[in-house]
Amino acid sequence: MSDRNGRLLEYRAQFPILERKTYLVSHSLGAMPRGAVGGLEQYSREWMDEGVAAWNDWWGLPISIGDSIGSLIGAPPDSISMQPNVTLATAVFLSSFDWAGPRNGIVTTELHFPSVLHILDGMRDQGARLTVVPGVDGISIDTDRLIERIDESTQVVNISHVLFRSSFIQNVAAVVEKAHHVGAHVLIDIYQSAGTVPIDLTELGVDAAVGGCLKWLCGGPGNAYLYVRPDLSGRLTPRLTGWMSHAAPFEFKIPPVDRANGGWRFLSGTPSVPAMRAAEAGLEIVTRAGVEAIREKSLRLTGRIIDRSDREGWKVNTPRSDESRGGTVSIDLPAADSMAGSLDDLEIMVDCRPGAGIRMGPHFYNTEDEVDRALDAIAALLAESNS
Ligand SMILES: Cc1ncc(COP(=O)(O)O)c(C=O)c1O
Repeated sequence: MSDRNGRLLEYRAQFPILERKTYLVSHSLGAMPRGAVGGLEQYSREWMDEGVAAWNDWWGLPISIGDSIGSLIGAPPDSISMQPNVTLATAVFLSSFDWAGPRNGIVTTELHFPSVLHILDGMRDQGARLTVVPGVDGISIDTDRLIERIDESTQVVNISHVLFRSSFIQNVAAVVEKAHHVGAHVLIDIYQSAGTVPIDLTELGVDAAVGGCLKWLCGGPGNAYLYVRPDLSGRLTPRLTGWMSHAAPFEFKIPPVDRANGGWRFLSGTPSVPAMRAAEAGLEIVTRAGVEAIREKSLRLTGRIIDRSDREGWKVNTPRSDESRGGTVSIDLPAADSMAGSLDDLEIMVDCRPGAGIRMGPHFYNTEDEVDRALDAIAALLAESNS
C-alpha cells in the first residue's frame, strides 16, 4: 500500500515525542510508540502478579518476537533468535566455525560498523585471517573489489546491507553469488535497512543476518536478532550459546550439548524480557504501515534533503541514486558536532558521526515540513556563523 494521501501520517499520534520535537534521528533510535508503554506495563503486571509463572508467557518470546521481525524481512518462522545486541549476535554466528582450519578467511569492509569490526579483529586470535576491503571516498564500497577478495579460503563474508555512515546500499546479491560459488557464507548486518529499505532474506539467499529493533523498527534497545538460513542452521554448531539452546533445557544436562533446532539453537542464557515486551508495539505499527510504503516516503524525504543541500552548496556524503541510498542522509557541514547540539537546542533531533557529518533519518511519521524546518535551521545557523 502506498503513502498516497499521507496515510502514514495517521501513525504520528502514536509517537508522543513528535508533539514536542522535530525527530529526524530514527537511524539511531526510533521514536517510542505509546504502545510500548503498554508492553512494559504488561511485563510489570506479569512479573508482579504471576511471579515465576510468568515464564509460561515469556519463555517463547525470543522466537515469537523473532517471527514478527521475520515477516518483515522475508525470514520463515523459527529462523530468528533474539539476541542482546548486533555485536554479540555476530559473535554467536561466527562461533559456529572452525577458525584454525584452512578455510579461515573473513572478508569485510572498513565501512562496516566499528563494534562489529572489533569482534572480527578479535577472531584473529582464534586463527581467522581478516581481509578488510577499503571504502571509496568514505561513502561506498566497490562491489568488484569486494568480490575479488572472496575465494576458496573464505569462511564468512560479513558486510552491512546499508552502511551506517553514508547510507550506501551494498550489492548483497552479487556478494552472495560469489561467496556461494566458492563455498563461503554471507552474514549481513541489516540494522540500517530493516524497517526502511525492503529486504527479503530468503530471496537474497544470505546464510545469516543480524539486526535490531532499536532504530527503524521503533522497538527500543536490547532487541537485536540473528537469522540463520533454515537449511543451514541444523548443520552449524554455535559455541557461544547456553542452556536455552539445549534441546531439553530443563534437564540441566552437562555437555556434550544436544542442541535444539531453528532459532532456539542460537540462544544463550535468560533473555531480556522487558526489552522484548517493549518491542512488540513498534513491530506491529511498522508491519501495518508496510515497508514498501515507508521506503517510498523515505526516498521522497531523503531526496528532498539532498536537493536542498545541493541548492545550498552543502556536501552530501550519501549516494544520490535511489537504488544506492538507504534511509539516512549525511551532510558534511563545518563544525557538524556543535551544529547537532545547536539543532537540539531548537528541539530538532539529528546526530553527527565522524566522517559522515550531520545524519538525518526521516521515518514514516515525519512530514516534509519537519524536514524543511531542520534544513532551514541548518541554513540559518550556518549564516549566523559566517556573519
Ligand atoms: C549497521 C549497524 N550495525 C551495528 C550497530 C550496533 O549494534 P549493537 O550496538 O546492537 O551491537 C549499529 C548501530 O548504530 C549499526 O548502525
